[in-house]
Amino acid sequence: MASPWWARNGLEIRQGRLIMAGQELEHLAREHGTPLYVYDTARMEANARRLAKALESAGLRHRVLLALKSQRHPAVLKRLRAAGVGIDACSPNEVSLALESGWNAGEISFTGTCLSPRDWDRILAHPIQLNLDSLSAIRQLGERLPGRTIGLRLNPRAGVGYSEKQTYSGDRPTKFGIYPNQLQRALDLARDHDLRVNGLHFHLGSGWLRGDLSRFLEIVQRLAGVASEIRGLEYVNVGGGIGVPIQESEEAVDLDAYARGLAEHLGPLGVTIICEPGDFVVRDAGVLLAEVVCIDEKGGETFAGVDCGWNVWCGTFIYHYPQEVVLCRAPTGEASRKYTIAGHINEASDLFAEGVLLPEVREGDVLALLNTGGYGANMSSLHCSRPHAGEIAL
Ligand SMILES: Cc1ncc(COP(=O)(O)O)c(C=O)c1O
Repeated sequence: MASPWWARNGLEIRQGRLIMAGQELEHLAREHGTPLYVYDTARMEANARRLAKALESAGLRHRVLLALKSQRHPAVLKRLRAAGVGIDACSPNEVSLALESGWNAGEISFTGTCLSPRDWDRILAHPIQLNLDSLSAIRQLGERLPGRTIGLRLNPRAGVGYSEKQTYSGDRPTKFGIYPNQLQRALDLARDHDLRVNGLHFHLGSGWLRGDLSRFLEIVQRLAGVASEIRGLEYVNVGGGIGVPIQESEEAVDLDAYARGLAEHLGPLGVTIICEPGDFVVRDAGVLLAEVVCIDEKGGETFAGVDCGWNVWCGTFIYHYPQEVVLCRAPTGEASRKYTIAGHINEASDLFAEGVLLPEVREGDVLALLNTGGYGANMSSLHCSRPHAGEIAL
């Protein structure tokens, strides 16, 4: 039988069972209990290295950072740090976690928003790279620490993303970044506070795929024009956002074309190019395992209820991601029946997938929700007093 579209090195079917990094997932679920996130750290490292290699091959001086908001499992951080990956932090606690995990301040870039006086106190205690995303942030920092070096997060009013919800810059105003009509004011404000601008940052959106690359690069080209007008730049941080396919019809971004495009537009500036992906590094390297606890026919649909809910994986509910679901004991079994996969949170919208075709599912089966290696654990809550999922890193 042909391999399913999602199979890859490290996520395989062997003797009819679903295997991640050499371990049988159903076995891990029984041993550690469900719900359970399982991470393939070798895959995460390989993803980061693929990106670095593409940037290298395009002749760019570069740095790759992990968006810490996407993953903070200690084993993942240890492995990525050893692979030379730096950190993109967005809160004081993330800065502290990065420092505690062994990164030094020079390897940490901070791009946060809506910072309180308490946030500033903690962030400015360390000589990390700062990308400021508003005029008020420039003023607040300037009043506290004139003479500091800063980067500016720009909002070009154009973006790309998996969906509108994940497009961080566009016609509709978003809270992020300094808008084109504010840039001169931002530079003046920085000068008035003796702040030296040494970098530009933009994050245009998340989850964009192969077909979105040309749009992404068009915007980069426009921003390269802006960057060329600013003296003293040492880096351009192009954000994260590279998506990974989460359903069969989707295509991965051509990394070499991405890097070549960055080199074409930003290369002439002679600055370091910083990429700070989250999902690209971690998403396809994680699965969420859940046990089926009930099967019920209601209103003409078959509901398979599982022992977790949107409190542990909220991607479906916030971003409306389509969800690939695999039956661990028969990943390529004949898909004979349509199921709605329901969570155990008392909200009608707590459904992971609707009308998904699976082999016959029974109570006690273990389902794997694929491509859940990013953000899930970090965004989980205790809604309905349901606990967080366990996490293991292979
Ligand atoms: C500033 C910034 N950088 C990087 C990222 C990582 O994005 P992604 O996981 O889509 O690569 C985000 C995500 O929200 C972000 O806001």
